[in-house]
Amino acid sequence: MILVLHGPNLSQLGSRDPAVYGAATVDELVDRVRALLPGVDAFTDESEARLVARLHAARSDGTRAVIANPGALTHYSYALRDALELLAVPKVEVHLSQTHARESFRRHSVVSPVVDVTITGAGAMGYELAARAAAELLRARG
Ligand code: DQA
Repeated sequence: MILVLHGPNLSQLGSRDPAVYGAATVDELVDRVRALLPGVDAFTDESEARLVARLHAARSDGTRAVIANPGALTHYSYALRDALELLAVPKVEVHLSQTHARESFRRHSVVSPVVDVTITGAGAMGYELAARAAAELLRARG
């Protein structure tokens, strides 16, 4: 199974600031991953606690890779960071917007040091790039 995790406010994609995040809904973004990878399980939640709990479950439910857009938690959630670190599978962090070209608080990701690949600023295409990165990482691990 490939876990596609979305954090707070990403449930609002489609109508949330389309000039920054594009017009695709979270389901449409997950569909981009599904088109490239079999066995995708999508989890979207506003709560840090439930996201952490989902990552804990991924340690023993057959999850082979994680693609995560943690939303604003990216920038400050050490709990999410630690939960990702616990997972020994390939991990890809993805952001729709170019976080480095926005407010200064978005330039730093506490998650990046514990993932294999970070993709930022490629919009919806970033999810295809994330899927390809996950597939390549899985291939490399055999
Ligand atoms: C985001 C970037 C974050 O800074 C922001 O808080 C989001 C979305 C992105 O996909 O560009 O919610 O992760």
